[in-house]
Amino acid sequence: MSHIAYVNGRYLPQRSATVHIEDRGYQFADGVYEVFLVWNGVPVDYAPHIVRLNRSLSELRMRMPMSPAALTVVMKEVIRRNHMKTGIVYIQVNRGVASRAHPFPNGDIKPSIVVTAKHFAGSSDAMAEQGAKVVTAPDIRWERRDIKSVGLLANVLARQGATEAKAYEAILVTADGTVTEASASNAWIITADKTIVTHPTTNAILGGVTRATVKDLAKQAGYTVQERPFTLEEAKNAKEVFLTGTTTFVMPVAQIDDKPVGNGTGGLIALDLRRRYRRYIDTLDAATAWNV
Ligand code: PDD
Repeated sequence: MSHIAYVNGRYLPQRSATVHIEDRGYQFADGVYEVFLVWNGVPVDYAPHIVRLNRSLSELRMRMPMSPAALTVVMKEVIRRNHMKTGIVYIQVNRGVASRAHPFPNGDIKPSIVVTAKHFAGSSDAMAEQGAKVVTAPDIRWERRDIKSVGLLANVLARQGATEAKAYEAILVTADGTVTEASASNAWIITADKTIVTHPTTNAILGGVTRATVKDLAKQAGYTVQERPFTLEEAKNAKEVFLTGTTTFVMPVAQIDDKPVGNGTGGLIALDLRRRYRRYIDTLDAATAWNV
């Protein structure tokens, strides 16, 4: 069965879905995206993903080619046509099609939009119990990492390094030794006094939607959460390290490069947060989950 994509107003089998060769997303990475989790037919944190999409667009002076209500209809239709119960919806909006030139095109060109869906059962519980291995990579990205831009080459290179090292993720480290986040997830540590620490939402990281939810769940559970930069050295010596993201959920980290962290297995607090996140997505209110 072919996957169905929504491309600029049409639902098409993915194998015959195409974009224009002068689309600025293709030529300049002049586009933004979102990845949504749909869990048992219910979107997870739909509203904050839409808020972030709109923010990414406005920071780049781009506009949505359709209303929020129309986008919701399209997403539901892509999910329905792909018979997807649990998985990922990907949305990409590019500035549009114009003869190649660096400045924004003259006139009001229509942004391009693509929506796809694919089955994804969630990050591995078995890996979470064991704790994932991560590697480190220098954070060589631009200074607007808060924008969910499709310009992801630095992330791709870091993640490829992880894959070649048989690791789950690559955490990104700036020249001064600060851990910003990971190639496609946010990074956290838990200190000896059980304080849960993650980088503040500055331009240096993507403000993860899962990050915000896990922060709330941790606070509700009575943990102390602190938003401050932390170093690779601190992470290597932390009680626990974990990652969060739409496809990651909460993933305990047991090894950074060649060094075991914590007790060398999935940390107990991170596993507790993973269970709490799982309970949160299992009990979302289907009636209001699509509200923005
Ligand atoms: N990535 N940081 C980066 C650089 C990311 O690309 C992502 C998400 C996150 C986590 O954000 P959220 O919790 O909103 O998913 C943090 C998506 C999943 C991706 O690129 O596939």
